[in-house]
Order: sequence, then C-alpha cells, then structure tokens
Amino acid sequence: MEQDFSIMEQAALAALRAIGDEAGLRAWQAAWLGKRSALALALAGLGQLPAAERPLAGQRANALRVQLEQAHAAHAAALRESGLAASLQAGALDVTLPGRPAARGRLHIATQTLRQICAIWAQMGFQIYRSRDVETEAYNFELLNIPPHHPARDMWDTFHTTTSGSLLRTHTSPGQIHAMREYAPEPIRVVLPGMCYRYEQITPRSEIQFNQVEGLAVGKGIRFTDLKGTLTDFARRMFGAQTRTRFRASYFPFTEPSAEMDVECFLCTGSGCVVCKQAGWLEILGCGMVHPKVLQNGGYDPAQYTGFAFGMGPERIAMLKYGIKDIRYFWGNDLRFLQQF
Ligand code: DAH
Repeated sequence: MEQDFSIMEQAALAALRAIGDEAGLRAWQAAWLGKRSALALALAGLGQLPAAERPLAGQRANALRVQLEQAHAAHAAALRESGLAASLQAGALDVTLPGRPAARGRLHIATQTLRQICAIWAQMGFQIYRSRDVETEAYNFELLNIPPHHPARDMWDTFHTTTSGSLLRTHTSPGQIHAMREYAPEPIRVVLPGMCYRYEQITPRSEIQFNQVEGLAVGKGIRFTDLKGTLTDFARRMFGAQTRTRFRASYFPFTEPSAEMDVECFLCTGSGCVVCKQAGWLEILGCGMVHPKVLQNGGYDPAQYTGFAFGMGPERIAMLKYGIKDIRYFWGNDLRFLQQF
C-alpha cells in the first residue's frame, strides 16, 4: 500500500515539474487530484481494506492529497511569476531615457511679417479687407486705369485661368475697387493683405507668388501730406521711432501723383552698408493719390473725394529686416530656413 502511494507521489510530482503553462496545470489537476484520479480511487477504496490497515492508509492518502494540492499551487505561482518576469523583460522600458521634445509649430515668417504690418495699420484705424485671389481682367487692370495694350501692363506678367477674362491677381490693388464699391459714398480706411501671382522667371529677387499689403484711404479733403504723414508714422511703428522716410516721384497708372517711399536703412542708419547697398535708404513701398478715374470706378465723385493708396511687399520687408538674400527661400519649404524665425 505504502509503495503504491510513493509511486503515485513520485509520478505526480515528476509530471508537475514538466508543466510550463496553464492548460498543462489544469490537465495535471484533473489527472492527479480529479474524481477519477488514482488517489481518489484509493480513497474511495479504503472501505475494502482490512480494518487494521484503514487508519494508516487513510492518513497517508489524505497527506498525499494535501501534498499534491500544495505542490500544484506552488508550481502555478512559480509559473505566473516567471511569465510576468518574461513579459517585463520583453517590454523593458528605460524610464531614465530623456523624453522626445514635442515639436512646436510656428507661423511662417511671411505670415508673421504680414500680421505685424496689419496689426500696425489696425492700431492706426485701418480695417482689414479681404479680397479674392482670382480676379477679372477688369478689376486687375481696366478699373485701375490700366487699359488693354497699355505699356504699363508689362509691369504685371499674368497667370490667366482657363476661363477667358479671369486671372490670378498680379497685385492687391483690385481690392481697392471692391472695397470702394462696397462702402461708397462712406469714407474708408482699409488695408488689403494677400497673395499675388506673376508669371515671371524665378530669381533671387522675383517669385511667382508673394504677399502684398495694399492700403486705401478715401474721404473728403485727404491730401498728399496725409499720405506722407500716415506712411511715415507706419514706418516708425514698423522700424523704430527714429526712422526717417523719403519720397521719390514714381509712376503708377492708378495714382496721380505717384511716389515710392524709402526708409532710412535700419542697419547703418543711413551711413551705407551691404543691406542698403551703400545707399543709406531702403525702398519699401509704392504709393500715391488715388487717380480720379479710379475713384470714379469705385463709385466716388472725384470732385468731392480724394484719397491715397499704397502697396508694400511683406517678404521684401522681411528680407531687409532679417538679411534674407533670396526670395525663393520663402516658398521653398526648407525647414532649415523656416525654423530660424
Ligand atoms: N500695385 C502696385 C504693384 O504691385 C503697388 C502699388 C503702388 C499699390 C502704388 C498702390 C499704389 O496702391 O498706390 O506694384
């Protein structure tokens, strides 16, 4: 009898040691501790033993059951632990590694400059007026006093769309007509920011797309001195309180008289350097008194109303300000350039 129990004990424990997973554990439990296991049968058969042997055999059988149950529990615990250790090892995480910094986005340098310019004009009482990128020839040219075949059209090489008579605006000036037609006969002060397009060879100084900020003031009694004072005030807000300006006579079909405004070079304050090409002055915008025909096209009576207008290029201003040598960097999408601002 005792021999049977020892054989059972050894066989059961040897089988248990070989088990490596949950399913094996369950099968082992059924085989060695289940209702039809050798041990259960032995316990059930105790009654048939001679009365003298029964107590000892009963004790032995119960002791074996307890032993096997404990061995099972211990092996199950050991398996769980080694499984946990293995999965920890597989998914090892070094919490001492420095984290990956989140990349911070920012506005494009052209947008930053555009917004800075618009913010200054807003402080000076000008409203932002949005105007479309796709224009008609009438708005882009004729209504601005640039008739077909006028030599001034050579200044604006144009992308035409497949719809006859519509094109990508070559400047923000057509927005002047839209704004005037919306507000006439009220006085207006607006700035018109936005993208312009020209069918040009791309060089370090010319691009097929670029921003402009146009400005327009129309009212009664507006004079050239208002233009000079307002634009000089803008230059001081943009480039510093000491900035001096200078106006040179120029030509634009939609203004009469027309001028270009230079600001004193902010790098050398006028003494001459590489930024201003030794001139001491930087050209930053075109301007003039709104041509009577343009006022009329906008719905204002030129006998009663006058106005001034201007147009500037934010990319050009940013180039001057940051010493950017090539306008193609703006739309080249090279992060090494963009991340500097
Ligand atoms: N539209 C002109 C250009 O693209 C810039 C300009 C000049 C706008 C004089 C104006 C102005 O409003 O008065 O070259």
